[in-house]
Amino acid sequence: MKKIAVLVSGSGTNLQAIIDSVESGFLPGVSIVAVISNKEDAFGLIRAERHGIPTGVLRHTDFPTREEFEERLINTLEGYGVDLIVLAGFMRVFTPRFVRHFSQRIMNIHPALLPSFPGTHAQEQAFDYGVRFSGCTTHFVDDGTDTGPVILQSVVPVLPDDTPQTLSQRILREEHRIYPESIRLWSQGRLSLEGRKVVILPDPGKADQP
Ligand code: GRF
Repeated sequence: MKKIAVLVSGSGTNLQAIIDSVESGFLPGVSIVAVISNKEDAFGLIRAERHGIPTGVLRHTDFPTREEFEERLINTLEGYGVDLIVLAGFMRVFTPRFVRHFSQRIMNIHPALLPSFPGTHAQEQAFDYGVRFSGCTTHFVDDGTDTGPVILQSVVPVLPDDTPQTLSQRILREEHRIYPESIRLWSQGRLSLEGRKVVILPDPGKADQP
């Protein structure tokens, strides 16, 4: 079993998509061993509890420094023996030390087509810029903000009568598709890092077509 921990700060709809994928059998061999939040009122925690997944709250405001917060988080995650940390709307930026500790074992999803519109309010950034297409990106986390190697992307159109909210909803539907798919590829050992590129290896379960 590959053990994943999901880190959330808010509503946790991506977490829900991942839980549903585990329960439906789309992610065989993957176990969500913990859901951890830096906010005690994150609805993602309730979603986890409803599915019997252990939860934890680590409030960053309870720690004098970012390093001490991360130290506790590292200990907590190591305590669960996690193989992969899945960031699903976790609103904290990690220090290089944390990223190094879990090198290539932290995945994130961003609601834009990186490298366009990194940072917060990506959907509004794209909407205000006037792009015709936006989307979402899964990536491994590196030292920068939303700069790590891209795993999957999905494109959605920006329609004439869109608002930032309707665009966000269209993007979110795609997030719920590509995040479980990215975790599935990782769990199958099919994500290989070459430089800053993620190469997706063929599915060993599928014979080559003649
Ligand atoms: C998503 O838009 C995700 O791309 C971003 O934070 C949001 C989390 O939404 N990183 P939810 O909590 O999964 O509903």
